[in-house]
Amino acid sequence: MLVVDFGAQYAQLIARRVREAHVYSEIVPHTASAAELAARRPAGIILSGGPKSVNEDPAPSIDPAVYDLGIPILGICYGAQLLTQQLGGEVARTGRGEYGRTPLAITGASPILADWPESAEVWMSHGDAITRVPEGFVATATSPDAPVASLHDPERAIFGVQFHPEVVHTEHGRDLLERFLYDICHCPPSWTHTSIIESQVAAVRAQVGDSPVLCALSGGVDSAVAAALVHKAIGEQLTCVYVDTGLMRANESEQVEDTFRRQFHIDLVHVKAADRFFEALAGVTDPETKRKIIGELFIRIFEEVARDLVVEKGHIEADDPSSDEPAGYLVQGTLYPDVIESGSGTAATIKSHHNVGGLPDDLAFDLVEPLRLLFKDEVRAVGEELGLPHEIVWRQPFPGPGLAVRIVGEVTPERAEILRAADAIVVEEVRKAGLYRELWQSFAVLPAVRTVGVMGDGRTYAYPVVIRAVTSDDAMTADWARLPYDLLERLSSRIINEVDGVNRVALDITSKPPGTIEWE
Ligand code: XMP
Repeated sequence: MLVVDFGAQYAQLIARRVREAHVYSEIVPHTASAAELAARRPAGIILSGGPKSVNEDPAPSIDPAVYDLGIPILGICYGAQLLTQQLGGEVARTGRGEYGRTPLAITGASPILADWPESAEVWMSHGDAITRVPEGFVATATSPDAPVASLHDPERAIFGVQFHPEVVHTEHGRDLLERFLYDICHCPPSWTHTSIIESQVAAVRAQVGDSPVLCALSGGVDSAVAAALVHKAIGEQLTCVYVDTGLMRANESEQVEDTFRRQFHIDLVHVKAADRFFEALAGVTDPETKRKIIGELFIRIFEEVARDLVVEKGHIEADDPSSDEPAGYLVQGTLYPDVIESGSGTAATIKSHHNVGGLPDDLAFDLVEPLRLLFKDEVRAVGEELGLPHEIVWRQPFPGPGLAVRIVGEVTPERAEILRAADAIVVEEVRKAGLYRELWQSFAVLPAVRTVGVMGDGRTYAYPVVIRAVTSDDAMTADWARLPYDLLERLSSRIINEVDGVNRVALDITSKPPGTIEWE
């Protein structure tokens, strides 16, 4: 199924819903020509919603030849208005829009509304309204301010709905999509987690042949699932490299060892490099400088390991950087939203701010990106199917530079230890409270100030710890989480009692913007 993107994030949610119905979907820009769309041989095309009005000039449009391809089309919101306008109907600025939950009345038979009762609640978000259907079309539903809320051309299998079937607030929205996918487009529900794994295993095998493949593990879900998938495909051709920077969360290193070496029997190089990182960070307090130092050192260490491994596995001569052959392959956990956002829909470059950035030219790796077609929820499902532990699969995001961006001021082994201990308590208590999955991130921060306190008979002068917990969908914006008081109380008392060097606990109540999620 091709989902045509008219801007904002509308297309992504539709594409995800289509996949939840077990039909593979891809997002394409509205600038693609009808011939380009047809060349992809889609079973159907969905025109998504968009932030604009079809009456604006210029409004994003689509090659009108798409309506003559003989491929079923479903227009949603903006998509419905666009096809109405392009096919000769009328979309008027009525001056009365509908936003949010709206009652819908079914007024005629439509094969995509087959499961619907005569009236239902749907989610609307429109200013303009379809006031006249194009020739050959019938109107099949209406709402208070959308005279035509559903229409279709039975001859050409072109459908439009003004409401949003992809949002959960639309009752029977899922039924509508399924009728379109299964009955109109005749798609079998064959996109399952097992089929994703099978097809990616075959693709990885075909891509890498018998070359060595490297994967940098960070402890996060994307690199873990990518590694497990590639390992399933090529077994011991894969070597994973885990660099312990000394800035990881509590138990993270043990868990990576446990999962990948002992459970999956993956060839794992565990580089214990904490000393090198602390040495490089000594005396540094500027946040950007810290990030840069960590990024560069990480690359240098990864490069050392990679060079040794590639030479050891016999693929290139140690002193032959000019060889045209790729030194091997590098696994990267790029996800589908990254691919869409990069705009090109083609190979993503190595993310510069991520753990592995800018590898030197003489180590020419080709990228293996087994997750590049998947959304995050699919990655998690695949991870579970591959047998990765829940703790890894459902782990909250963690920044590449690790605890360093949560330690304001100088990063020393002692300060990292204080933060790690406090953070472990936050994670443990948030989990116990059943809130870990609900929160986008929840962690501890160590500021650079010290404050006076009193413990027992003595005066203390020690660090405060700040609790940062946010809700978010995509980390672009975030709200501070309203944690229950009893949880805050437990956090405060446990952190102060159990973590040496801390005598005060504070709570960060800043949303993003204006704050960022991390403190540095
Ligand atoms: P901010 O602090 O900018 O963070 O609101 C947004 C999200 O990105 C994560 N983050 C990073 N992730 N490398 C990463 O892989 C980094 O350098 C980095 N810095 C921030 C952060 O944890 C949050 O989820």
